[in-house]
Amino acid sequence: MENPKIGDNINVGNASVKVEHPSILNVLKQRENIKKRLSGIKHRIGVYSAKGGVGKTTTAVNLAFALKEMGYKVGLMDADVDCPNLALFLGIEGLQAAEYPLKPVEKDGVKIITTAVFVDDLRRPIIWRGPIIAKMIREFFENTNWGELDYLIIDLPPGTSDAPLSIMQLLELDGFLLVTTPQHVAAVNAIKSGRMSKRMGVSILGVVENMSTGELRGSVEVAKSLECELLGSIKMNDKIARMSDEGKVPLVEDESIKEEYINIARKLCKRE
Ligand SMILES: Nc1ncnc2c1ncn2[C@@H]1O[C@H](COP(=O)(O)OP(=O)(O)OP(=O)(O)O)[C@@H](O)[C@H]1O
Ligand SMILES: [Mg+2]
Repeated sequence: MENPKIGDNINVGNASVKVEHPSILNVLKQRENIKKRLSGIKHRIGVYSAKGGVGKTTTAVNLAFALKEMGYKVGLMDADVDCPNLALFLGIEGLQAAEYPLKPVEKDGVKIITTAVFVDDLRRPIIWRGPIIAKMIREFFENTNWGELDYLIIDLPPGTSDAPLSIMQLLELDGFLLVTTPQHVAAVNAIKSGRMSKRMGVSILGVVENMSTGELRGSVEVAKSLECELLGSIKMNDKIARMSDEGKVPLVEDESIKEEYINIARKLCKRE
């Protein structure tokens, strides 16, 4: 709808939303502006679960590099703005953002934006309330020069509040890749994340079981509950934790790990 007014029903992503309050009009304007700003990016995929520590960042990093290995131009955005672990996983801590509008830093051909480039020490806490977190995420979307990209992968923080909500409201996403582990508690939280996404009009592209120990469990529960595709699994593998701690991308270092992530990336690309 061109110029929505209070009382109108409009489509946002897959959801129909009633414009009940002027603030919704404001968000819609921001969303439209961001859509224009990101028009050089063909696909935007979020990696998400409300549960902490299931492997969202690990999945986002390795998925980004899998897509790069497949020949795509890839960007990686760290939406975990107060705990920007992505920089540790990529061994880029200490790199400083020098330009505004923001210029992504590059690691082996993948473009990266993270609040880690604003701090000189990742041990120093970033203590921000929700509105500042939301503002920083908007800033990343509105003022980063990504250039042309095939895929932008967004690493979400856990939870169902500020940062995930901002992303769902502001960005037209292809959808979310949900991450679970075999445990029921992780599956319950992935299901909750999926339900929030659907309510906010964001598609679920599929679920991945990380830290799998054999027969798939958590992902089966999630796929059944959300009626989404089970895209694959990544084994529990100490090499993944060790290499990530060393700032090396596991997929680049190890062929069997690469195969696991490439399989998932291929299934995601097939959806085009
Ligand atoms: N398949 C795996 N095998 C072994 N260790 C893994 C695997 N996946 C992730 N890890 C390790 O588990 C820890 C948590 O992973 P990660 O930081 O990616 O989770 P997260 O969901 O992003 O966490 P947060 O919610 O804090 O953002 C890290 O130390 C990571 O190296
Ligand atoms: Mg993380």
